[in-house]
Amino acid sequence: MTTARIIDGKAVAEALRVGLARQVEALSFRPGLRVVRVGEDPASIAYVRTKERMARAAGFDGETIALPATTPEAAVLATIAALNADPAVDGILIQLPLPQHIRPAVIIDAIDPAKDVDGLHPINAGHLAAGRAGGLIPCTPKGVMHLLRHAGTALAGARAVVVGRSQLVGRPVAQLLLGADCTVTIAHSRTRDLAAECRRADILIAATGRAEMVRGDWIAPGATVIDVGINRLPDGRLVGDVAFGEASKVAGAVTPVPGGVGPMTVACLLENTLEAALARRG
Ligand SMILES: NC(=O)c1ccc[n+]([C@@H]2O[C@H](COP(=O)([O-])OP(=O)(O)OC[C@H]3O[C@@H](n4cnc5c(N)ncnc54)[C@H](OP(=O)(O)O)[C@@H]3O)[C@@H](O)[C@H]2O)c1
Repeated sequence: MTTARIIDGKAVAEALRVGLARQVEALSFRPGLRVVRVGEDPASIAYVRTKERMARAAGFDGETIALPATTPEAAVLATIAALNADPAVDGILIQLPLPQHIRPAVIIDAIDPAKDVDGLHPINAGHLAAGRAGGLIPCTPKGVMHLLRHAGTALAGARAVVVGRSQLVGRPVAQLLLGADCTVTIAHSRTRDLAAECRRADILIAATGRAEMVRGDWIAPGATVIDVGINRLPDGRLVGDVAFGEASKVAGAVTPVPGGVGPMTVACLLENTLEAALARRG
């Protein structure tokens, strides 16, 4: 029997996109988003297509720049320099992963922080780590916070456990939770007795890329569980990092996969692009 409330990320993301589209309609310009893809990774092709489609549907000037997998690092840097200098471009996103010969940190560091709508530039990461307002916040972590607020989860004083410490998800999520006055634990692959750490959580965020690793008996009754993971099983099914069937019998609220955090990432990319546009253009 399912007891947990299912947090409908698709609906929350759609409401966010509709609100953004209304704001864009009222502007005298179309915020410009450029997504740079290098190579032919099938998942990246699909993600980038969705980003461009959603951007255009919400009235943004969204365009993909597709470069061959063999593009030298210097040529990718030249593309970024041109986008940095283009006044019509408000947001630049480099789709990760990049081909082996291109160093992601070098590319990310080359993006103008004011246009870094993925929030990965050290200047933006630094703003977040310092607890300062004004920086651009990574899209998936921002989406997680939207979902927690939508679910009505009490944040101040809550014990939050984040499983995963990546630059893309775990670390920024933990910073945002800290900023919202949660008591935060960051767990990772070297954490001793991970299940016991998770069981202490009022809010449990799973971002490991390990299919259904978080079991029902790792979850405190009534906890809010946000599953960031996207994992393709050998049988083709898409699952999260949380065993959803088990979690939904214990948790107070839980996000599904698909239809949880995933749609929020694209909506927050548009939100960041609008924020960047308004900040840049005064
Ligand atoms: N929904 C979305 O829009 C969205 C966006 C981004 C990512 N994702 C998904 O979210 C997941 C995480 O992404 P990511 O980029 O953060 O991945 P990542 O860079 O591979 O980081 C994974 C993190 O999980 C930790 N981890 C791995 N195995 C573990 C274990 N057995 N026990 C405890 N911790 C473990 C790692 O610990 P160590 O640091 O110790 O190695 C690492 O910190 C993936 O499934 C990804 O596809 C979804």
